[in-house]
Amino acid sequence: MSRKPTYSGLPTTGMPAHIAIIMDGNGRWARARHRPRVFGHSQGVKTVRRVVEDASEIGVKCLTLYSFSTENWTRPKAEIRALFNLLREYVESDLDTLHGRNVRVRILGSRSGLTPDLLQLIHRVEETTKDNTAFDLNIAFNYGGRDELLRAAARATAAGCDWAAMSEDDFAPFLDTAGLPDVDLVIRTSGEKRISNFLLWQAAYAEFVFTDVLWPDFDLSDLKSAISEFNSRSRRFGNLEPSEVA
Ligand code: IPE
Ligand code: IPE
Ligand code: MG
Repeated sequence: MSRKPTYSGLPTTGMPAHIAIIMDGNGRWARARHRPRVFGHSQGVKTVRRVVEDASEIGVKCLTLYSFSTENWTRPKAEIRALFNLLREYVESDLDTLHGRNVRVRILGSRSGLTPDLLQLIHRVEETTKDNTAFDLNIAFNYGGRDELLRAAARATAAGCDWAAMSEDDFAPFLDTAGLPDVDLVIRTSGEKRISNFLLWQAAYAEFVFTDVLWPDFDLSDLKSAISEFNSRSRRFGNLEPSEVA
């Protein structure tokens, strides 16, 4: 018999334990206003602030935001620079507030290609908030699901793991999301309906909610409606409908 996979996902009876958002549509939001794409990204940061606050107010405990993918390196240099600056500014300006609200911040993703000052800042925010317990905020930056799996495999090998005896639960602690629950709900804004290399392992059994709203316009009512859509789904994890289980 093969080993039984264990998903930490919740039944759809309340708040998802872990919500992950693909924050998409900043460029289109800006273009609609005849503004540069970067203007859309800076509006997007305002949405991040609001959504983090709203999510914690309504009882979400773990939120992961996709802010720069390993594929985003193909964008023009000036846009990449702007995205890096926005992450830096966000962390610098909000660190004290987040820490004061007992938020633990993690930056998921590869460290390669990041500048020394950004690496230092990431270290500072993660160290400062590491004992916080009210809310987990994860920012996926320079993140790709395939890249994460390769890095996790390298870490597991370096730790001397016996691959033949390894279970899924043994492997999960080597991921960037070590210790966090599986993703219950993935929300993607802007009308695109794809995963774009996001949390491939952690979202194995997530429910997906797609909305046409562009990220800078995403608000509390959109978050609540995604959660109620999640609660209307029947999650079976490979099993039968509860009504069909003898
Ligand atoms: C999402 O907005 C932010 C990032 C991917 C960094 P986009 O920049 O992808 O906006 P669109 O998809 O071009 O509208
Ligand atoms: C996904 O958005 C990545 C982030 C939101 C950071 P993209 O806009 O880069 O995704 P694709 O290229 O449309 O798949
Ligand atoms: Mg996009």
